[in-house]
Amino acid sequence: MEITHKFNPEHKGLETERKCDASTIIIFGASGNLTRKKLMPALYKLYVQGFIGNDTKIIGVSRTYNDDNEFREAMKKAIKETETDCKGWDQFSEILDHIKADTNNDESYEDLKKEIINLETNEGCGGNRLFYLATPPESFDTIIDNLGKHDLSRPKDESCWTRIIVEKPFGRNLESAQRLDKKIGRVFREKQIYRIDHYLGKETVQNLLAFRFGNSIFEPIWNRNYIDHIQITAAETIGVEDRAAYYETAGALRDMVPNHLFQLMALIAMEPPVTFEADIVRDEKVQVFHAIEPIKYEEVSKFAARGQYIEGMINNEKVPAYVNEKDVKPDSKTETYTALKLFVQNWRWAGVPIYIRTGKRMAKFVTDITLIFKKTPHMIFRTLAKDVHVSNILSIQIQPDESITLTFNAKIPGAGMQLKPVVMDFDYSSAFGTRAGNAYERLLRDCLTGDQTLYSRRDGIEAAWAVIDYVFDRWENEKNIAVPKYASGTWGPKEADELLLRDGRRWKIL
Ligand code: BG6
Repeated sequence: MEITHKFNPEHKGLETERKCDASTIIIFGASGNLTRKKLMPALYKLYVQGFIGNDTKIIGVSRTYNDDNEFREAMKKAIKETETDCKGWDQFSEILDHIKADTNNDESYEDLKKEIINLETNEGCGGNRLFYLATPPESFDTIIDNLGKHDLSRPKDESCWTRIIVEKPFGRNLESAQRLDKKIGRVFREKQIYRIDHYLGKETVQNLLAFRFGNSIFEPIWNRNYIDHIQITAAETIGVEDRAAYYETAGALRDMVPNHLFQLMALIAMEPPVTFEADIVRDEKVQVFHAIEPIKYEEVSKFAARGQYIEGMINNEKVPAYVNEKDVKPDSKTETYTALKLFVQNWRWAGVPIYIRTGKRMAKFVTDITLIFKKTPHMIFRTLAKDVHVSNILSIQIQPDESITLTFNAKIPGAGMQLKPVVMDFDYSSAFGTRAGNAYERLLRDCLTGDQTLYSRRDGIEAAWAVIDYVFDRWENEKNIAVPKYASGTWGPKEADELLLRDGRRWKIL
């Protein structure tokens, strides 16, 4: 079958029509969830679109599959779960290879090296190499050391590139992130390192940049003079699923905040970059992290809240408490919800609180950024109508709906002067006739073309950890204090409401 490359007509003539260099993509952790659920479907799509050609090969490294066929079968099953159209599978499967290897074992890297050289010499894969660390973080150190030791980290020659994608969590706190950065820095140069945060691959997240810096009307009011406060929410209805082994060591704060939520915050709070070049955009984001006031040890309860879900109802079904989930310790103190109040202390944002919250088993699946504007300085309709002194609200919904809405007050038709908030909205799918693609597709495409704009840089990662480092310490030291609970299917513990109520505010109803 001939693969037809379907491009969005809006993309005509754009970068997206490029094909990537002939390369070898090596995935460590090939039998893991991430590879099955995200990476393979994304690589398959890139292949079907013609971005990845037959001169690129993908080597899965795992201990699980015995040969190429087993690996291919498992990947086929994985792709079928997300793709309705698998017509390109047969051709795609030809570029998949597997090496059964234990990443702790020295010999495995020699086998891998031989296979890479074989593909480059006999299958026309050029000399470009992309290593993807899709393993649990405990394996990062060993793999990185071995790639260095077996001379796999440096580009083969001057005309080729070697890159590495490192999955989150990038460290457990500031100190471990610095350690990991040092280690990886000994083996790879910063230009080769792609620290992935899949939120940056989401179309609506990138649209934040277009919205702010591609339009002139919002920037003049995007500051402390007009904005009262900002709320960022990433609420999920799913629980810990089968990831307790990881989640028990992470918790909601580590899992979502210094990475995904801070990236959203940086895009909202950053200054306009001079150009859309990787380091220039990333410089501005890092400035935001440097400007956030770190939460002090003695002030953790004033600026941070946490919670753990107990049983409750999600979509009319009863779900168990976190402590009763598979592989979770019955006395676990892991937080499944967290909320923070932060300040970006710079000229633009001084005094504007940014409240962020994230949790599992919440009332609704929604990722949203809301900017609440200051009220009018004087309300002339006060004597005519009740409750008219309402703020304008700009809401940017990242998922599941991809939309931007502006709420403002309008006159209710008829006699008198009654006002009511109404909504002006933009919806991604109706405007462009397409829904956003898989975030990994975009990020893999960028990495294969050498664009680091949507990847995190060392200084950004470390500055983000520094903001919340004491929160981990404090919660760690409070192991004997019970974690507040919230029923599954609700909006989190009362402590999170209090974070705002103390300031005379409330979480937006989403
Ligand atoms: C991952 C976290 O990074 O992001 C998960 O480890 C979380 O716990 C997921 O569920 C959320 O991603 P998305 O794209 O579904 O919002």
